[in-house]
Amino acid sequence: MDNFSPGLAGVPATRSKVSWIDGKKGILEYRGVPINMLAEKSHFIEVAYLLLFGSFPTDSQLTRFDLDLRIHRRIKYKIVDLIKCLPENGHPMDALQAAVAALGMFYPDKNVQDKETQYLSAVRLIAKLPTIIAACARLRHGDDIVLPRDDLNHADNFLYMLTEKIPDTVCAAILDVCLILHAEHTMNASTFSGLVTASTLADPYTVVSSAVGTLKGPLHGGANEKVLSMLHEIGSIQNVRPYIEAKISAGEKIMGLGHREYKVKDPRAIILQRLSKRLFDHVGKSSLNETLPLYEIALEVEQMSEMFLAPKGVYTNIDFYSGILYQRMGIEPDFFTPLFAMARVVGWLAHWIEQMQDNHIFRPTEIYDGEHDKVYIPISQR
Ligand code: COA
Repeated sequence: MDNFSPGLAGVPATRSKVSWIDGKKGILEYRGVPINMLAEKSHFIEVAYLLLFGSFPTDSQLTRFDLDLRIHRRIKYKIVDLIKCLPENGHPMDALQAAVAALGMFYPDKNVQDKETQYLSAVRLIAKLPTIIAACARLRHGDDIVLPRDDLNHADNFLYMLTEKIPDTVCAAILDVCLILHAEHTMNASTFSGLVTASTLADPYTVVSSAVGTLKGPLHGGANEKVLSMLHEIGSIQNVRPYIEAKISAGEKIMGLGHREYKVKDPRAIILQRLSKRLFDHVGKSSLNETLPLYEIALEVEQMSEMFLAPKGVYTNIDFYSGILYQRMGIEPDFFTPLFAMARVVGWLAHWIEQMQDNHIFRPTEIYDGEHDKVYIPISQR
């Protein structure tokens, strides 16, 4: 009873070698390698290999992994038909969850503890998620899907499938870093949910569809969409101070700020801020669809919030800059969380593979707070 921790806060759910956070110093490491080093020197596919299999790939391992990912990008026409049957105005995370669960019917990988099965399932899921997401984005506007091109790398191909145009190289390179930053983050809610499903020896498609469902919630993957709405609501740099003061005096949370683990600025937000500046310098501050100086408003919100919230250890988190960045790349706001899933699928799978090495089914207990020995009352007497 004394050990009860609501939300299991601070309770270790497993032992893991996948990633590590020092929230006081603002450090995030994947397999022991600091995130800023990976963001600067590596690329998403190499980072995916590192997270899944525990060490950097050799040249030949990376070549094979990359090739396998490219050849598994296509999805069955029945998956496309399934997406077509879903309501166009539904949330794309629901479509993604349904499509990922359906993948499992085409690839019944039953032997989940076998290494080759794990490799192939991981490849299929990482390769096919972008295709599913791009298909959802196009079909809801009545456009045909764009087939993947195996001569393009992961991020370039995704942007190509969205727009049917070869993407700008700076945008694609920035998206690749965003995927690295979102790929893994220790025992968060979606990873935990995937792990619980994995512990029953369910197939990896079911594991990932559980995790997608959990990521959808606004307390987890949905915050960057809300940051964008907040910046629109603020509307100008002059409005920032009154907006922040009003929020703080009303005791309301400012979106994109604060983190359960980090009590300094989230190391991923530092990188995303730099990337946002690079993107806005490259493509210009406004577009036809967006005339507000969102990056400048965001900078002002960050500075103003720090004045009030830094003493509480509340700083910008990963969601603060990712929304404005994705929006400037032309991605629709309700696709921000699917993009998160497209990266985080790697972390979910890395934890799945780790769990399969020493599996124990999750079966926590509960503290019963109900009544005992009640009698059955016939319906006529209730
Ligand atoms: N805006 C304003 N104040 C905030 C804040 C925010 N975003 N986040 C935390 N605080 C304040 C709290 O009001 C609280 O103040 P108090 O001690 O005077 O009551 C203090 O900081 C501690 O907050 P708490 O809610 O206990 O922190 P937490 O670690 O439990 O919560 C979050 C972490 C992420 C849930 C929380 O910061 C939040 O809701 N942020 C906004 C949503 C968001 O960006 N989510 C994405 C996370 S990656």
